Amino acid sequence: MKKSIIAGIGMYVPTNVVTNNDLLKYMDTSDEWIQERTGIKERRYAHRTEETTTTMGVEAATIAIERAGITPQDIDFIIFATLSPDYYFPGCGVLLQRAMKMKEIGALDVRNQCSGFVYALTVADQFIKTGMYKNILVVGAEKHSFGLDFSTRGRNVSVIFGDGAGAVVLQPTEEANRGILSNHLHSDGESAEILAMYNPGTHANHWMPEKYASFDQAEIGQMFFSHAMIDDAQVFPNMDGPAVFKKAVVKFPEVIMEALNANNLQTTDINLLIPHQANLRIAQFVQQKLKLSDNQVYNNIQQYGNTTAASVPIALCEAWEKGKIKEGDLVCLAAFGSGFTWASTLMRW
Ligand code: ACO
Repeated sequence: MKKSIIAGIGMYVPTNVVTNNDLLKYMDTSDEWIQERTGIKERRYAHRTEETTTTMGVEAATIAIERAGITPQDIDFIIFATLSPDYYFPGCGVLLQRAMKMKEIGALDVRNQCSGFVYALTVADQFIKTGMYKNILVVGAEKHSFGLDFSTRGRNVSVIFGDGAGAVVLQPTEEANRGILSNHLHSDGESAEILAMYNPGTHANHWMPEKYASFDQAEIGQMFFSHAMIDDAQVFPNMDGPAVFKKAVVKFPEVIMEALNANNLQTTDINLLIPHQANLRIAQFVQQKLKLSDNQVYNNIQQYGNTTAASVPIALCEAWEKGKIKEGDLVCLAAFGSGFTWASTLMRW
């Protein structure tokens, strides 16, 4: 069976740099608190009207396609991962297909939040292996800045997230020693509400633990959304930070070891680990637990914040552009996030 290889990679971040001190205009926080707890110094926010999740995806995709030495018309399938789509529906995949004037190819949106890119890459890998497609565009993009609670009430979430996009072109390779070796996907829906945006949605409190169901949605009737949801901050992401932290530091190492074990490899064989940029403290914990050197782990959350589905391809692209990934290197991608879902991909670059 053929293996898949990343033939081209690109990233895009908005030019607007927002420092921790800039956030003081909106909420009670401090540069010291944010850096100490998350490692973040600054993030990028997209232009409010001229940039969307899809347009940022298009920017990253344009670079990835060019670097693969092909044109948008050569792409035969699109997979777009995001939790901040331009529209509730349709997804960003079709908007990108339109914007890039691609053929009438398939376009799939993936909703796996922080693990979204690794899930999307895994799906693409299967289509390449079976021979169904030859040039798959995989995009991870987010415009978080449009949907955060910038009051002090939302500060535990809002300071973490940033905007941006990353993209790769996946192709089949005949080279025996290169390409994706394996993918590993997991989920545990038990804690779905711990890191979630509840509304607008159809749940009518059906699943909601008492502590999160702070107003009676059933009384409102069959409404998809209401003023009460806005007043109650339920249209913003909600996160129990310490609970996410606890689970993440267990599942990240687990899914990395799963990938290594599946290929009879060891942590010392890893040339570069690209962890989802959730929080620098989580990445440092994982690095220590797996006894990886500083040269074996790439972090850039300090500059971009947590860009969810975009964080892995942005970090991968930046590391590659800086010459930190060379042909034949063993690269491990690992992610954990809302759902909970977690995933890893191991590849020979
Ligand atoms: N600025 C100042 N103070 C704040 C802020 C802020 N931005 N946010 C929260 N605080 C305060 C709280 O109000 C609380 O005050 P109190 O003690 O007076 O009640 C205090 O800081 C501690 O709050 P915690 O939420 O317990 O803070 P914690 O030390 O756990 O840090 C954080 C919060 C950074 C979110 C941490 O829990 C964390 O990193 N969790 C992992 C979750 C994560 O990384 N999520 C990223 C998205 S999900 C993903 O990508 C996997």
